[in-house]
Amino acid sequence: MILLNDLKRDHLEVQEEIENAVLSVLRSGQYINGPHVSEFENKFSGYLFEGSKNKNRIHTVGVSSGTDALLVSLMGLGIGPGDEVIVPSFSFGAPAEVVKRVGGTLRFADVSADTFNLDPTSVSAVATPATKAVIAVHLFGQCAPMDRLRSMCLKNDWYLIEDAAQAIGAKQNNQPAGTLGDVGCFSFYPTKNIGACGDAGAITTSDADLARKLRSIRNHGYEKKYQHQLIGGNFRLDEIQAAILNVKMPLLKTYNDRRREIAGIFSESLQNLKTPKILPSNHHVFHRYVVQSEHRRRLSEKLKQKGISNETYYPSPLHSQSCFEANADLPFSDKLCEDSLALPLFPSMNDEEIEKIIKAVNE
Ligand SMILES: Cc1ncc(COP(=O)(O)O)c(C=O)c1O
Repeated sequence: MILLNDLKRDHLEVQEEIENAVLSVLRSGQYINGPHVSEFENKFSGYLFEGSKNKNRIHTVGVSSGTDALLVSLMGLGIGPGDEVIVPSFSFGAPAEVVKRVGGTLRFADVSADTFNLDPTSVSAVATPATKAVIAVHLFGQCAPMDRLRSMCLKNDWYLIEDAAQAIGAKQNNQPAGTLGDVGCFSFYPTKNIGACGDAGAITTSDADLARKLRSIRNHGYEKKYQHQLIGGNFRLDEIQAAILNVKMPLLKTYNDRRREIAGIFSESLQNLKTPKILPSNHHVFHRYVVQSEHRRRLSEKLKQKGISNETYYPSPLHSQSCFEANADLPFSDKLCEDSLALPLFPSMNDEEIEKIIKAVNE
């Protein structure tokens, strides 16, 4: 069976180094707020800064997951009751969930059927005087149209939050995802382009005051222990996950290059379906390789019969899910939920598997 992600195989290359890193944390007796988290934050900031034209320092705040990165960002930006936040309807649900959790009002916008990403025209159409922020999800590894979204946000005094959970290492106009808005939110869920062995996340920003606030919120709103200056919580990244991320960080480029190579072969070879469109300004890192087919169900069944896993990304638009209490008419989000299918793609996939997938899709 070819899995959608083969984490066990991806892990083999770094297994020994990770086991040593984890063992050293276990033996150190320091499991929370220790040197591995600081090392990771510095590494991640350095990596984003190097790739960026931005002359400001980048601050990284390690947190417990990508969902918590989004939640802590909204808390840090002061989004709450009465504030509207615009979120794409075709997405993983976390960006919508967190708006509700801080008591904000959700506004769903539609996406482009070519790139799966937020459509700025739809953002304008759903905005109201109560709009305070836009969450731009860089879906499947390609950045949303940040130039247009940024000018819209600047003009209206809205915050621009990047959900870069699926876009670690992605770039737009040579600027890394995570440096294109007011804050960048990352997930290191095991299947992500850099994955922990459990849950982990990070927030990035070039605003030093905001970074300090986010750091405090992730640890009960403390600046000083037991002195609660802000309402926060326990959103900490732990030492074991940080030590694992420190081992994997230097491999990000190698992993992403292989993902891009496999995606390139698929796009040249697959027939009778719509392959992902990459905008010229974007460096796509293919967290997922998602095709569109009018015969999605048939294609999915055929591949499963041939031992090739596949998954519907995403089966229902967020605006149709009852807990979000939305009433919206977003035809492209609806359509993509009918047509889209993710094929297997992971860095350790071999050429034989690539061939097998292409043959199975085309015949
Ligand atoms: C676009 C997007 N945002 C947020 C998240 C949440 O990340 P986590 O699972 O680390 O909480 C995910 C995770 O799958 C995601 O794909």
